[in-house]
Amino acid sequence: MVAGNWKMNHGPGAARAFFRDLGPLVPPGGDGQIVVFPPALSLAAAREARDVHAPDVSLGVQNVHWEEKGAFTGEVSVGMAREAGATHALVGHSERRTLFGERDAQVALKARALLLGGMIPVVCVGETLDERREGRVEAVILRQLDAVLEAVGGRPGGWLLAYEPVWAIGTGETATPEDASSAHGILKGRLRERFGAGGEAIPILYGGSVRPDNAAELLGAPGVDGLLVGGASLEPGSFALIVEAARR
Ligand code: PGA
Repeated sequence: MVAGNWKMNHGPGAARAFFRDLGPLVPPGGDGQIVVFPPALSLAAAREARDVHAPDVSLGVQNVHWEEKGAFTGEVSVGMAREAGATHALVGHSERRTLFGERDAQVALKARALLLGGMIPVVCVGETLDERREGRVEAVILRQLDAVLEAVGGRPGGWLLAYEPVWAIGTGETATPEDASSAHGILKGRLRERFGAGGEAIPILYGGSVRPDNAAELLGAPGVDGLLVGGASLEPGSFALIVEAARR
């Protein structure tokens, strides 16, 4: 799987143009899955253009609230996201955690609401540079994963993980394939402990400064099942090159 997180980029007009230009670059029927996460306000435009130009591409939202509806100014519910065409949702992205104060418990509630609402959560975990320097990678990513495991109960299916070391996001600094494999191995170990062989079915994406020139190497790292791309997903040409690397 190759996923593109646009963050707070591309309004409705730019979203339409993106799918129009992406269509010819990612012919339908290729291996693997492509998911794009536009801002919620651009989802309707993205869906319209996606249906015409790139029908194989799935759509997601970058965040949801865990309640079904109510007095939660500025928030979007699972039901709304699904009605607007999203099948996937990011939860616990490091920008949500660090800039908006999202805690493990809230990430877990969101993941649970998404599963109950028939959507696919992509749960993001990852350590900061300080945590890495202090030798706490394993402790941090397992704490983040465990919070979600409690909430998803016995379900080994219908959700994904993304390992995104915070120090590699938007910095141009990429984890080495060895760093990625090591973190993915830790996460996979926990999933096996929890779900037995069923844990193998939960894909783990790597994210953090993925570009066309490092995509193949990261995809080749043991334990890396796909990529979550930020900056390089904004431009159809570079995103398509990363999709191509995954399809090869
Ligand atoms: P980046 O972002 O590729 O721009 O580093 C990745 C992400 O935050 O999902």
